[in-house]
Amino acid sequence: MTNLSGKTALVTGASRGIGRASALALATAGAQVLVHYSRGASEAEAVVAEIRKAGGRADAVGADLAAPDGAHKLAKQVRKIVGDRLDILVANAGVSKAATIEDTSVEDFDHLFAVNVRAPFFLVQQLLPILGKGSSIVLLSSLGAHASVGTLPAYAATKGAIDTLVKHFASALGERGVRVNAVAPGVVETDMSSFAKTDSGRNSTVAMQALKRIAQPEDIAPVVAFLASDQARWITGDTVRVDGGSKL
Ligand SMILES: NC(=O)c1ccc[n+]([C@@H]2O[C@H](COP(=O)([O-])OP(=O)(O)OC[C@H]3O[C@@H](n4cnc5c(N)ncnc54)[C@H](OP(=O)(O)O)[C@@H]3O)[C@@H](O)[C@H]2O)c1
Repeated sequence: MTNLSGKTALVTGASRGIGRASALALATAGAQVLVHYSRGASEAEAVVAEIRKAGGRADAVGADLAAPDGAHKLAKQVRKIVGDRLDILVANAGVSKAATIEDTSVEDFDHLFAVNVRAPFFLVQQLLPILGKGSSIVLLSSLGAHASVGTLPAYAATKGAIDTLVKHFASALGERGVRVNAVAPGVVETDMSSFAKTDSGRNSTVAMQALKRIAQPEDIAPVVAFLASDQARWITGDTVRVDGGSKL
């Protein structure tokens, strides 16, 4: 059983989907959780209420991570709440857009990189003063970074960047005792996933997986909680596939 009692955690994009499930998993394991949202204030408050009802500690924090100073503003709010120590950062907030090479606009490309890459980069930078020995950072990669799945070249490139950052962050922060890893989900049934929304998408998803069902956010969250915990104390610089054996 993962034990995170006494730990403080920030989960970005925790109003919905994988972030929500991860926030609940961390809270169930005993962590105090900051539930970040952008547009989904009421959804985030519902996650906070659920955690508190179960006897846990949680607060909602809002910030638009598409804005150049979004990560800086979020880090300020986090430091006000947790003080000088953050044990767990799950940089989960993300956006995707299915588009061919020809149909990808500069605006879409910039938006994808702003939310999926720039924001986690500067969130780590801005939170470094309160991340210390034993802290764990978990970033969100994707099956799309490792295999050509769907029509997502620009989105997939943002996740390739995450896999690269994991290695550089882990290498740079190891001396401080901070671990950095990523999880790479396959297709997960959330608002984001176009694959899970149609019969043909669901069929092709199941066909490429060893395990024959569509993943739910709760299939990813325990791995996030594990990587965040001391049980994963010797794992850093890695991206863990959590994809039901996709594209083996
Ligand atoms: N679903 C999949 O199949 C899949 C597969 C591989 C990897 N992933 C990755 O897993 C992560 C979570 O995805 P999901 O499927 O759970 O997505 P989701 O259900 O669409 O939720 C996305 C979350 O990101 C937040 N977000 C979006 N734009 C934002 C912005 N500008 N500023 C701040 N927050 C923003 C949303 O906040 P609000 O709702 O509050 O605005 C929401 O909480 C992403 O990094 C995604 O790339 C997903």
